[in-house]
Amino acid sequence: MSNEKPILLSGIKPTGKLHIGNYFGAMRGQVELFEGGKYKCFIMVADYHALNTVQDAQKMRTKTRELVMSYLAVGLDPKKVVIFKQSDVPAHTELAWIFDTITTMPYLRRAHAFKDAQAKNKELNIGTFNYPMLMAADILLYDTKVVPVGQDQKQHIEITRDTAKKFNHIFRDDVFVIPEPYIIPEVAVVPGIDGRKMSKSYNNTIPLFATREELHERVMSIVTDSSGKRPENVYAIHKLVRGESELVQLYEENKGKYKILKDTLAADLDAYLAPIRKRYEALQNNQKLVEEVLARGKKKARSVTEVKMEQVRKIIGVTA
Ligand code: ADP
Ligand code: TRP
Repeated sequence: MSNEKPILLSGIKPTGKLHIGNYFGAMRGQVELFEGGKYKCFIMVADYHALNTVQDAQKMRTKTRELVMSYLAVGLDPKKVVIFKQSDVPAHTELAWIFDTITTMPYLRRAHAFKDAQAKNKELNIGTFNYPMLMAADILLYDTKVVPVGQDQKQHIEITRDTAKKFNHIFRDDVFVIPEPYIIPEVAVVPGIDGRKMSKSYNNTIPLFATREELHERVMSIVTDSSGKRPENVYAIHKLVRGESELVQLYEENKGKYKILKDTLAADLDAYLAPIRKRYEALQNNQKLVEEVLARGKKKARSVTEVKMEQVRKIIGVTA
């Protein structure tokens, strides 16, 4: 075991359209770590987490297929990375239940996602409240060492760490590895076209697979504030795709010329994203490939988690 590579695991819910915040904040880090070759990688489609909001079978299927294609398009090699669906691996919900029994309500009430939903006076389902327990199971089942995500997931990883420690403490065993988040500081929070965090729920995104025309249209809608020395919202997105040393000069030379700066940003984004978009388009009708990838992932993920669950069941005393 000790000379094997450490485990990387991450996941995304098959909900809306992927945007460049998802890409720069989470997916790119995953691809970079995968390409670095130091980790054994598991990438999950978090469909049971998505079920909290996506309650339409057709949408669930479509979004799942699109997410797998997106992962392939951004550069994950399905022969080397285990790409799987959460719902294909029963151990996730089984372990989440076990974690429910050692976690208190006041502890989970402190989770940001729960508090946000409560602040909006939303009628909460139990799945939203319990969300962090399923996520802890996702991560801990694989002896995960590193979890590449955006800043907004940091608390979930902390809850996962607490849960692992609590379980280990109660059952007096080093059953679970304590994972670390991997958050790239410069892209921890990618801003949207209105300057707030880019998020599908704010309608302020730049879609990852936007056409050149759509990219241009979205960039033109970036909110600019003329009081500062440069349009910060434009600059913040621009530095995702072009080095700051070049940008400082470009923005200096074009002070106040928002149209030129936005045109340049749209062209730079297009140049950066075009290869990913082309790969995505090439996969469009390859339903078979998606199925093959998920079938392989299911087999591998099940075999890993079955071994872990056998150990857990013994430790808690439900099997001899
Ligand atoms: P959204 O906020 O659009 O609903 P998700 O919650 O589905 O996005 O996030 C999927 C992944 O992308 C997570 O790892 C999350 O941290 C990351 N992510 C989402 N939005 C951003 C952003 N604006 N900046 C950095 N990372 C982000
Ligand atoms: N909660 C994550 C999100 O909203 C998705 C997710 C589910 C995840 N399980 C995970 C991320 C395990 C990393 C590891 O983006």
